Amino acid sequence: MALPEDFLDELRSKNDITSVISMYANLKKRGRNYVCKCPFHNDSTPSFTVYPDTESFYCFGCAAGGDVISFIMRAEQLVYIDAVKYLAQRAGMQMPENKYDDSFSKLRLRILEANREAARFYHSQFYTESGYRGLDYLRSRQLSDQTINKFGLGFAPDSWTALTDHLLAKKFTRYELLQANLCVESKKGSLIDRFRNRVMFPIIDLKGNVIAFGGRIMTDEKPKYLNTSDTPVFKKGDGLFAFNIAKNSKSDKFILCEGYMDVIALHQAGFDFAVAALGTALTSEQARMLKKYKETVVLCYDSDNAGQLATQRAIGILRKENVNVKVLQIPEGKDPDEYIKRNGSDGAVKFKLLLDSIESDIDYKIEQLETRFDITDASGKFQFLDQAAKMLAEIKNDIERNIYASKLCEKYKVSAQDFEMQLAKYVRSNVYKSSREEFKRVKKQITESVPVSKGVQGGGLSTRAVRAEEALISYLMHNPDMVQSVTDRVPSEKISHEFNRRVYNALTERILSGKSANFVDFSGEFTKDENAYIASVFARFSNELNVPQAVDEYISVILEENEKKSAAQLAELPPEDIQKYFDEMKARKKG
Ligand code: CTP
Ligand code: MN
Repeated sequence: MALPEDFLDELRSKNDITSVISMYANLKKRGRNYVCKCPFHNDSTPSFTVYPDTESFYCFGCAAGGDVISFIMRAEQLVYIDAVKYLAQRAGMQMPENKYDDSFSKLRLRILEANREAARFYHSQFYTESGYRGLDYLRSRQLSDQTINKFGLGFAPDSWTALTDHLLAKKFTRYELLQANLCVESKKGSLIDRFRNRVMFPIIDLKGNVIAFGGRIMTDEKPKYLNTSDTPVFKKGDGLFAFNIAKNSKSDKFILCEGYMDVIALHQAGFDFAVAALGTALTSEQARMLKKYKETVVLCYDSDNAGQLATQRAIGILRKENVNVKVLQIPEGKDPDEYIKRNGSDGAVKFKLLLDSIESDIDYKIEQLETRFDITDASGKFQFLDQAAKMLAEIKNDIERNIYASKLCEKYKVSAQDFEMQLAKYVRSNVYKSSREEFKRVKKQITESVPVSKGVQGGGLSTRAVRAEEALISYLMHNPDMVQSVTDRVPSEKISHEFNRRVYNALTERILSGKSANFVDFSGEFTKDENAYIASVFARFSNELNVPQAVDEYISVILEENEKKSAAQLAELPPEDIQKYFDEMKARKKG
């Protein structure tokens, strides 16, 4: 019996892997992860790592790996279903009943499909005569087309049945559309669109599913926002807007604001770690989601009374989940969106200064630095200024860096010109260094030779391709929302290694059908050894950078090696076949 996806999701989230494993081993924090001596083999060094981000573990010594369920299977010597029962009991959950669950998870899938189709439909309205004003409205709020596309914004037409007709034609049933809350029943009992004449904000979960919508009216009418009610795939208070993007940000914190527009304006200004709690007071569930990825949350609610009250309440909830809380007060009674816009081209820099002023570690660091030199002496002062320039060079933003620089020159009475020259020198060398390091890291990740497990050795395959394939698989596990863009570029037949291809197929299929993308869910499709190998791929690439540049590099290696392989195969064909091949290629190019 296959257990329903949402039951397993809940089981895993209620049996936090770190706390389960800490009943069996003495975990020590290392970076974002935990390590210990492996409970499954005689381990002299801590080879065993727990990855809270992906709710998984892997032992570099004995290659045991998996999720909390596989852990319990090993630790308690149980078969799969008994390990699940054990964990369900521990979490006070009922085991699901068979029949109901099956049809329920099918309904969930249908709703996700309907939502995705609806999001596409809403977006496409921008390019129609009646929907153009939706796009106009968003542009008038100073969103760039790039931002509008990135968030998949759209427009629900001023019509009773535009979406309804579209989705019925796509063979969604009346029941599915009502359950999805995309449609409602009119008084006469006919099906009508839930959202009409509103700009639409899709809400996307970590698997890349569209789980709900918020829709804003473009006038002063009420209600200003209309949101999807609870459905089988969405519960108010469970999701966070833009969480799928913000969790991948390089920043070590989140900014939590009140509204969709605040989040989008912040992202557009470069603060890609902003999220919002979707028209409800913050819930403990959301606080836990945040805490799972970053230690610090900066509260940035509206500065009106309601916002201040909400701030107080949110502080309590976040503290309870051991989140490090900071508060950013927007001046002049504005919300972040208005603040950034009001300040025109300085908006981003000014917001950054606000963000830093709640930390203001630069001033502090410079004061600390000064104490190490005797600045009454000319050479001491020179050394101090040199070190200070080095420190300021770390500030990425030019305007901000210059603000600190001129403050410093004024305070220590030095020529701004000389100091800026010194500063510029360090800035240039930083830029050079960081781009070179990034390049080296990506290269290393692909070419580094690691032991390849028995299960997956393949004759005559390029190690370079195999490694790039593994990296790409791991990237997809971390970033399931990128599945479309990756599969568009890399169809599975381009994956050279047969095993990697199987994993790639299984993984992309799972993501596209809205299921969880953790390797831990492959239990049904792969053997124990294969699963452990997948876990190791995941573990090896887990700490690497998962940035778009890196992915582009993986993909180009895969495609390049694939090309080479085809060329090598081609050389072995009889001449007439080679001619045929070239003819086909030519025809394809023309077509
Ligand atoms: N909200 C809601 N339902 C409403 C009003 C607000 O769900 N009737 C939620 C929305 O998620 C909204 C957030 O609360 O984004 C904050 O509301 P508000 O400050 O009124 O709107 P803004 O986000 O500032 O939107 P805008 O700038 O477009 O006015
Ligand atoms: Mn606003």
